[in-house]
Amino acid sequence: MAKPTFYVTTPIYYPSDKLHIGHAYCTVACDAIARYKRLQGYDVMYLTGTDEHGQKIEEKAKAAGLTPKEFVDRIVEGERGVRDLWKLMNISNDRFIRTTDDYHVASIQRIFRKMYDNGDIYKGKYAGMYCTPCESFWTESQLVDGKCPDCGREVKYAEEEAYFFRASKYADRVRELLTTTDFLEPKSRVNEMVNNFIDCEGGLQDLCVSRTSFTWGVPVDFDPGHVVYVWLDALFNYVTALGYCNDKYDDLDRYWPGVNIVGKEIVRFHSIYWPAFLMSVGLPLPKKVYGHGWLVIDGGKISKSKANESVNIIDPYVLSERYGVDALRFFLLRTFPFGSDGNFSNELLINCINVDLANDLGNLLSRTTAMAGKYFGGTLPEEQEAGPEDEELRAMLAGLRSRYEEQMEKLQLQNGLGEVFRVIARANKYIDETAPWVLARDESKKPRLARVLYNLLESLRVCGTLLRPFMPGSMDALAAQIGADEAAMSWEAAEKLDVLPASVSVVKGENLFPRIDVQKELAELAKLAAPEKDPIEPFKGHVPFDDFAKCDFRVVKVLKCENVKKSEKLLRFELDDGSGTVRQILSGIAKYYRPEELVGKTLAAIVNLPPRKMMGLESNGMLISAVHTEKGEEKLNLLILDDAIPAGSVLC
Ligand code: MSP
Repeated sequence: MAKPTFYVTTPIYYPSDKLHIGHAYCTVACDAIARYKRLQGYDVMYLTGTDEHGQKIEEKAKAAGLTPKEFVDRIVEGERGVRDLWKLMNISNDRFIRTTDDYHVASIQRIFRKMYDNGDIYKGKYAGMYCTPCESFWTESQLVDGKCPDCGREVKYAEEEAYFFRASKYADRVRELLTTTDFLEPKSRVNEMVNNFIDCEGGLQDLCVSRTSFTWGVPVDFDPGHVVYVWLDALFNYVTALGYCNDKYDDLDRYWPGVNIVGKEIVRFHSIYWPAFLMSVGLPLPKKVYGHGWLVIDGGKISKSKANESVNIIDPYVLSERYGVDALRFFLLRTFPFGSDGNFSNELLINCINVDLANDLGNLLSRTTAMAGKYFGGTLPEEQEAGPEDEELRAMLAGLRSRYEEQMEKLQLQNGLGEVFRVIARANKYIDETAPWVLARDESKKPRLARVLYNLLESLRVCGTLLRPFMPGSMDALAAQIGADEAAMSWEAAEKLDVLPASVSVVKGENLFPRIDVQKELAELAKLAAPEKDPIEPFKGHVPFDDFAKCDFRVVKVLKCENVKKSEKLLRFELDDGSGTVRQILSGIAKYYRPEELVGKTLAAIVNLPPRKMMGLESNGMLISAVHTEKGEEKLNLLILDDAIPAGSVLC
C-alpha cells in the first residue's frame, strides 16, 4: 500500500540580508514536524526556499553595486548563506525553491495569464500609500498613526497603472473558510483577519497584483513594463514547487494540499489572498495555515537590521557553532509555545541546555550507560527481576507515544517535548528510588539491578525515538550508546515496552550535552556582542599648509575598471577627471571590490603624484580610501561621492 503523504512548507524568506534566529526558528519547527511525520511513516515533502523578487531586493542590490541576481545568489548560495545555514542546522527539506528559478518564473506567467483570462485579474490604476519595505499599498484608514500597519515605517504616496485581482469576489467564501473551519490556526488569529480585512469598512478590497515602478520581478508576458506583484509570485511557490503549471516536477496530486506554516505577520497574505488565489485557479486550499509567534528580544521583533547590529548573539551560525546544532534546535522548540511570541535571551538558552539536556537527559544517559558498564561490563544479564518501583515508570512510558502524538498533531511542539521530559524526570527519580549502587553491593540483587538498568535503557529508547525529530544527530548517538538499532528506534517500537533484548549491550560514549558555565559564558557572549574596538591609527605630526595646498585632490568618475592580469591586488581604472582625456590609475584594492561594482561610481583621487609604473602599466595618481582595522584585519572603503558632483571638481 502506498504510504500516506504529508506536505509542509516554511515561508520562503527574503534574501535581502543574512537570515537570523527568527528564520531558523520557523525552519527548525517545520523540520521537526517533517521528521515527526516521516517517523510516523508518512511520505513527506518538506519545502523551503527564498522569495527573491521585489523592489526591496532591487534597491539593496543597487546599494551593494550588484545586479539583483548577483546579490541574491550571494545570500542564498554563497558561503554561510541560506543553503549553508540549513545544511549546518540539519534541515531535511526535500526541495528548495528560489522564485528566480526558471520553472517558477514561467509558471507564474502562466498563472497570471490564467487569472487574467478567467476575468479575476483586470487592469486599473492604483493610487495610495505605499510601504516600500513591505511592498504593500495601504488605504488611509488602514494606516496606524500615518505609518505602515505591518512594520510601522513611513509610507509614501504612489500612483501607477496596475493589474488588480478581484479579491472582493471571494470575500464571502474566504470569510466562511476562516470562520467555519480549522483552516487557520491558532484560532485566536481568525477574528483579527475577518474584522480587519473582510468585514472592515469597504469590505475586502481588490488587490493590486502588478508593478511598473521597478523591474526586478516576473514580467507580465502580455504587457511589458509590468512585473507581477511579489506576493502573488511568492505564494504560488507552494504549488509550482510540486509542478503546478510546469514540467519540472510532477507531484502536485501526490502532495497538495499541504500545511503552510508562517509567522503571524504574514497570516493576512496566507489566510485571505492565498485561498482566494487558489479558488481563482481552481486548486484545492491548503489543509492548514498555521501562524506561529515571533521570537522577540526585549519585547521587539528581531529584525534583519537588528541582526546586523548585534550580529553575534542572534546569528544562528554563531549559536549553532557555540552550543551545537541540536541544542539550539531543541531550545527553540522547547522554550517557546509555537503559536505565541517568546522572548529570546542567552540566559534562557544556556539554562535550557543545562537543565533539560545536560542535567536531565544527558545525566540519565551517562549514568545508565556508566552503571551498565561498571556493574555488568556493558552487557546486561538475561536474568532480571521486576520490582514495585517499576510500575509507575513503565506505565508512563507505555502511554508516552500517544500523549506526544496528541500534542504534535496540534503542532504544540513545546507540549510534545514536555511530555517526553516528564518521563525523563520520572526516570531520574526512579534511579534515586531504586538506588542501583546499593543493589550492586549485594550479589543476590544482581537480577534486580539488571532490571532497573533495563527499564532505564527502555526509557531512553522511547524518549530518544520521540526526540529524534528535534535532535536527529544527538539521538542517533544516543541510540548507538544504548544499543538500539533502527527497528528499536521506530515509531511502532515507541509504543511498546521491552523492545531491547534483555541482554542488551551498551557503549559508553561521549557526553552528548556538556554543562555550560553560565556566568563565564554570559560574559563571553557579552564580549562577542560588543567587540572591543581596534585602536585607530596614530595621528601624524603637523604638515605646513603650503605643502598640503600643493596636493591636487579631484572628483573622478569610473569609466572602466578591470583586474590587472597576473596581479591579485591591482585594479586598473580608466577615469574621467573632467579634463577631456582619460586618466589611468592603478589601485591595490582588488581584495575589497570587484571591478564591475565600481563602474559608474564617483570617487576621489589625488592627481598630481608623479607617474608610477606597476606591472608594466603607468598609474597617474591615487584613489582615496578610508582604511581601518577590525579584529586586527585591515578594512578598506573607497570614498564614494554623490553622483551629482561633476568630474574634475576640486576637493579642498
Ligand atoms: N518572503 C516573505 C514570505 C513569503 S511566503 C510565500 C517573507 N519573508 S521574510 O524573510 O520576512 O520571512 C518571514 C518569516 O520568517 C516569518 O513569517 C517567520 O516565519 C520567520 N521570522 C522572521 N523573523 C522572525 C522572528 N523574529 N521570530 C519568529 N519568526 C520569524 O515574509
